[in-house]
Amino acid sequence: MKLAYAPRASAILYHALASAPAARKPILLPANICPIVPLTFLKAGAEFRFIDISPITLHMDLDQAHDLLKTGDYGGLLYAHTYGETSTPSGFFAEMKSINPTLLLIDDRCLCPPDALAQEESQVDVTLYSTGYAKVVDLGYGGYAFLADSLPYQPRALPYAPQALQELETSYKAALAERPPSPYAYADTPWLQTESPLPAWADYYADLSARHAETMQRRMSLNALYAAALPASIQFPPPYQLWRFNIRVEDPARARQALLRAGLFSSSHYASLAGIFAPGSAPHAQALAANVLNLFNDHHFTPQMAQQACEILNRVLPL
Ligand SMILES: Cc1ncc(COP(=O)(O)O)c(C=O)c1O
Repeated sequence: MKLAYAPRASAILYHALASAPAARKPILLPANICPIVPLTFLKAGAEFRFIDISPITLHMDLDQAHDLLKTGDYGGLLYAHTYGETSTPSGFFAEMKSINPTLLLIDDRCLCPPDALAQEESQVDVTLYSTGYAKVVDLGYGGYAFLADSLPYQPRALPYAPQALQELETSYKAALAERPPSPYAYADTPWLQTESPLPAWADYYADLSARHAETMQRRMSLNALYAAALPASIQFPPPYQLWRFNIRVEDPARARQALLRAGLFSSSHYASLAGIFAPGSAPHAQALAANVLNLFNDHHFTPQMAQQACEILNRVLPL
């Protein structure tokens, strides 16, 4: 295993895609992924195809992925952990590698709590973590990955302009807000930061470990408060509640507005990107996004704010 460390996780993803011969064939992506992921593929000139999520696991539908990878038409897949749920489909990864050892398998754990231990027995080529904005441990920068020794990986410095990143974010958010969604026309600009003066790995890791312990404590106490105050029928199972506390509601926009009127933020996250960054549709990803409301359980929220959010939700939601 090799360790890669960069200003953000997508820089590592970019280098892996640009270096790995397997990425010359299309890679499978879950439809409910962070838009920065397909944008990184577009920047690297790597093709991809969206796959719907399983309505049971909320992760990429592995039966569909299995059937497509077996055709030999695809170079591999990027597996993501919806809402940071940490389980790993190790058996599936091992089976895919036994069918075709040249497949590029990426375990994108950017929404999971960061883990600094390389798993020697891992079947995947890239295990990717982020400590950037809005991640479980939010240092405001930083990503790292464990890379298989066999993975060709040649990082190279790309030009970067913060303004280009801002413009990219504005343009993809506008595309996502369109109804019905229309295809996003990608134009390459220097939006991806691949270089920056980073602290030494040991200092970064010490900082992330301290922040990890602190944030998990807060998340657990706010989660306990939400779990006790909101109806159990609308709560996601506990393994899906690490990154934020997620509930299913009929009208998330209405709930968000009611919270906002009291100065409280919430989010709705990662709608289906199928039909926007690549053709296709993903009804399960769309259905999930249509009903989910993400409540904050990090340093942006105090117990008083969480309590107030629950009182508002219990008042406004037809539960
Ligand atoms: C699943 C997933 N992968 C990758 C990324 C990119 O991480 P970074 O912002 O560190 O480049 C994100 C960003 O939100 C993400 O949610």
